[in-house]
Amino acid sequence: MRRTLLLLVVFLISCGGEPDPTPAPTLSAEMAAGHTVYQANCAICHALTPDTVVRGPSLYGIGTRARQRVQGMDARDYIYMSILRPADYLVDGYENIMPTNLAKDLTGEEMDAVVNYLLTFEQ
Ligand code: HEC
Repeated sequence: MRRTLLLLVVFLISCGGEPDPTPAPTLSAEMAAGHTVYQANCAICHALTPDTVVRGPSLYGIGTRARQRVQGMDARDYIYMSILRPADYLVDGYENIMPTNLAKDLTGEEMDAVVNYLLTFEQ
């Protein structure tokens, strides 16, 4: 009886530990999804090449810049907020023309995908 219990404990301990790292195929599927969402909803106003202004600022390096935009807000939250509440923080020299319907038109998965996609653009 004691031995069974000990084996059970050993078994449970060996099952714990670090979760498996996310397998690469899942990650690139999300990146592909993010790219698709970006092309469909953002590329009409934003470029991903440096210093290219379409109607909005270039999002080249946004993964890095987003960390410094609003004090106390990390890059992920800043990009989410840029989509959900675009008027809260306006980039200098630009009008408030970001569409306000994106928050309800995009699904949660699409939002996550496009934000994670943009976070990879670091300088
Ligand atoms: C109709 C044009 C338009 C569309 C479409 C648009 N944006 Fe914007 N976006 C702008 C403009 C103009 C600004 C600068 C003013 C401001 O801060 O809102 C901006 C700002 C941003 C910023 C802040 C950039 C910085 O340097 O701080 C992010 C991030 C952003 N947009 C992401 C997106 C994403 C993601 C989408 C698509 C889901 C999108 N935008 C769609 C026009 C647009």
